[in-house]
Parts: sequence; C-alpha cells; structure tokens
Amino acid sequence: MSNQEGTSLQGVSEQNNADSSIELSTGESPLLIARDIHKSYRTSRRHNTDVKALRGVNIELSVGKVVALVGESGSGKSTIARILAGQEAPTSGDILFDGQVANFRGSKNYRDYKSKVQMVFQDPFASLNPIHTIAYHLSRPLAIHGSEKPSHEAMEELCEMVRLVPPSRFLSKYPHELSGGQRQRAAIARALAARPRVLLADEPVSMLDVSIRLEVLNLLDSLRSKFSLAMLYITHDIASARYFADEILVMYKGVIVEKGGAEEVTQSPKHPYTKLLIDSSPDPDDLGSNLRSARVIDARVPVSSGTPDQGCRFAPRCPLAMDRCQREDPSLLSISSSRRIACWAVTTSESGEDSVLAEGGAGGSFRG
Ligand SMILES: Nc1ncnc2c1ncn2[C@@H]1O[C@H](COP(=O)(O)OP(=O)(O)O)[C@@H](O)[C@H]1O
Ligand code: SF4
Ligand SMILES: [Mg+2]
Repeated sequence: MSNQEGTSLQGVSEQNNADSSIELSTGESPLLIARDIHKSYRTSRRHNTDVKALRGVNIELSVGKVVALVGESGSGKSTIARILAGQEAPTSGDILFDGQVANFRGSKNYRDYKSKVQMVFQDPFASLNPIHTIAYHLSRPLAIHGSEKPSHEAMEELCEMVRLVPPSRFLSKYPHELSGGQRQRAAIARALAARPRVLLADEPVSMLDVSIRLEVLNLLDSLRSKFSLAMLYITHDIASARYFADEILVMYKGVIVEKGGAEEVTQSPKHPYTKLLIDSSPDPDDLGSNLRSARVIDARVPVSSGTPDQGCRFAPRCPLAMDRCQREDPSLLSISSSRRIACWAVTTSESGEDSVLAEGGAGGSFRG
C-alpha cells in the first residue's frame, strides 16, 4: 500500500543542523542492508553453551517501502531489530547503510547512524521514562541530533505529525497520564525527532487496545509515505503484515524461511510454517477482524517439540518432513523472481530441483 511520494521532516529539519540532512534516496538500491547476520548469546559460561538467535539473516529495506518480519515468539525478530538499530553488534555479518558498511560502537558515524535508524518498541510505557514529560522526551532527541535548544514549535510539530492534538494538551503530560495509544504516538514522535530515514517498528500495536491498533498502523503508514521512510514492521500477525507491508519475510528459529510480496505470500503461502501461521490467523482476508480481535495468534500455533541441531529446524512440526529434512538444512532458494523459500519439499517439487535458482542465480544472490 505504499507509494514513493516523499518529503523531508521539514519543520523538525529547521531545528536540526543541515549536515546530517535527510536527503531522500530515490534510487532503487536498498537503503539498509543486513547481510548474513549471525547472533549467538552465551547462556552458560560453565557449560560453554549458547543460543543461536540468528543464523545467516539477510534483510533489505528500501526508501518508502515496508518489509514485514513475521514469526512466532522466540524466532529472533527483536534480535535483528536491535542489531539493525545499532544497539547490539552481530556475532558476524555486515550492516550496510546507504552503501557503506556501518561500523558500530566508537566509530565516527555511530551517532549519525543511530539517529537515522530509529526504533519503536512494543511497550510504549516501558520505552518512556515515567518521571519525564512528553516535552522532555521530544526535546532530548531534538537536542542530541540537532540544535542545542529545541524550540517549542518543533515539539508541537512532532505532536501534530503523530496526531497528538492540540499539542499543548500533551507536551506537559507524563506518560502515565496518557492512554496506551497516545503513549505509542509519543514514542513514534520521539523517534521522528531524530529525523530518521529508517523506522524499525517492533510489534508496535500488539500491546495496544484492539480498538486503536488500526489507527496506529495507519499513522505509521502515513508517516512512511510522507517522509519516504524505509520501514521494518515486526509482527506475529501475518494478516496485519499483508495489510501493511510491501514484502513479507517469514522467520523461524533465526532463519528466514519464506520471502516474497505481501500479497503472494499471504494468498499463496509455500512454506509449511507460513501455511501454519496463516491457518492460525482468525481470518487473513479480514485484517479488521484480526486487529479487533484480542486473540493472540502465537498461542494457537502448536508448541514446538524441540529444535534439532541439524537439518530443517521446522522438521519436528512439519507434516511434509522427509529423511532429507533431518539431515540437510534447506537453503533459501528462488522459485520465481520475487519468491524465495527454504524448504526441500517446495523447492524440489515447484520447479524441479535443477531449475530452482540457487544463490547467485537469475533470481539474484540471496541466502537468508
Ligand atoms: N540477551 C539475550 N540473552 C540470551 N538469549 C537471548 C537474548 N536475547 C534474545 N535471546 C534469545 O534469542 C532468541 C530470539 O529472541 P528474540 O529476538 O527476542 O525473538 P522474538 O523477538 O522473535 O520473540 C530466543 O531464543 C531468546 O531467548
Ligand atoms: S525442509 Fe522438510 S521439514 Fe523443513 S519445512 Fe520443508 S518439508 Fe518441512
Ligand atoms: Mg520480540
């Protein structure tokens, strides 16, 4: 549902220095690229064990487009968001911003990168400091990323951007004095104050009252369009991904298992896990019913019966699992110019194994 109409964060830009101006990339190349990202967390030093949260994830975010990252709890969605936001370093792999490798921590461009790639969290209450007013939350990023003394007008303008109107009613309020939806709008305004080019929205509506989820998604979509933001929309709700995103990446246990246009992935899912997510959705054709429903899709997906160390990680839950799946980890392979699937059953039957485009084939180089 995106278009490429674009403008800059005008009023806010007057508050900020021109040196890090939001010049819009209109080219086709992705603005933010995560390339072969791995992330392991040490769980026990004594037993030398770790959890592999991400295993070779590739993501590309482009100007004015929304990519949805969909998967159950524990699949690694927030981990990749934190890495993209520069909050954590990957164990291996590269992040490229505007064609340059982003070197985190201590590097000269770290602050600049952090302002351009902003995050909106699931829980607006936890992400706002209860002892400070909304004005304080907005003035901080304005000051850090721009002028020393942010004007009241710039703060009012941010409120208006997220439809906290009239701004005078909200700027002096503390987070606990706002509703959940108003808090999330304030958190979005704070992210905009840094004049981002990329917005990473990690389950931005899942903790909100069902009646206002659609409003907040529509707000994000209008901001995406107005400022040509590249957006990552993280969710466990594949129906909302269909409504909101241009492209869907389905993630399972740290691996992208299906990638394609939002419409084709939801209308014609290929990977057994994507099918499971869609079957578990109340009504994928009716986003409104999903957003109005308090039912949590995660809870209705069968519980995993363990994750194997080798082979396909989905095998214990997969109705199509075969011998090969226990031995060999399926690669993400192209089955058409826009579609990639990591599943032996699909890639060997769809086009015949030989004609499936492997990494670097005509469908482009990709492995996730
Ligand atoms: N700081 C951490 N320390 C140890 N394990 C972590 C940490 N952060 C995430 N994990 C693990 O990484 C996996 C992915 O987590 P997460 O990215 O939060 O998934 P999601 O956002 O999809 O629910 C989970 O197994 C989680 O327990
Ligand atoms: S590779 Fe095998 S186990 Fe994995 S999803 Fe495909 S058929 Fe199922
Ligand atoms: Mg998460």
